[in-house]
Amino acid sequence: MAVTGAVLVLFLVGHMLGNLKIFLGADSFNHYADWLRTVGSPALPDRTLLTITEIALVLAVALHMWAAVSLARRAAKARPVKYAAKRKSQASGYATHTMRWGGVIIVLFVIWHLLDMTFGTVNPGGGDATPYDRMIAGFQPGRWWVGLFYLVAMVMVGLHLRHGLWSAFQSLGLTRRPRVRNALRVGAAVVSAVLVIGFVAAPVCIMIGVVK
Ligand code: HEM
Repeated sequence: MAVTGAVLVLFLVGHMLGNLKIFLGADSFNHYADWLRTVGSPALPDRTLLTITEIALVLAVALHMWAAVSLARRAAKARPVKYAAKRKSQASGYATHTMRWGGVIIVLFVIWHLLDMTFGTVNPGGGDATPYDRMIAGFQPGRWWVGLFYLVAMVMVGLHLRHGLWSAFQSLGLTRRPRVRNALRVGAAVVSAVLVIGFVAAPVCIMIGVVK
């Protein structure tokens, strides 16, 4: 769970930083998108980095979900009789509900997102538009529902990440001392909030016309 989660977090941080290039203008953003396709050229064929990233992401997502299902099964086996008292503990309330459905929403988001930004199938700019134009066309105020979906998905990503980081700290045995525990709790929330703000900055600024 943690190793595949770490791969996904690394991707998200890189992706979020790359998206912020939109604030440097169309040329800078498109140049960066082009670099992603041609990095290592001419020694390496085009799309080498992207293909490696895509394979790593598919593997990481599949293994992450497999680990989640098998851990849930193991937990159910260890405790086949449900607790008589319905206590809204951290494990049963927050973790199972937000993590499970949050994970499903994130997967649905990624499918829409690839059709929107990578293939252009559901983007008004279409597949031939530049990455910058696809971003601008995709988040026009008339398509507020797309923007809203992205915002909801990013909040889910943030909640998922916050809980994932916290679980990883617990698994590593770092949360036994109260002071360290509190610092790590705040740290997980801050890292997740920075990631969400970094991601939503571009769609929000396009929707309100600050980036055109
Ligand atoms: C507001 C949030 C986001 C925006 C505006 C955004 C924007 C983009 C854009 C413009 C591309 C295409 C880049 C190109 O053509 O060069 C892209 C690709 C991609 N994004 Fe996002 N993204 C966001 C969040 C996310 C999140 C949260 C995930 C994962 C959970 C994600 C996963 C991907 C993947 C897998 C690709 C394809 C990479 C590839 O071609 O190999 N994105 N995104």
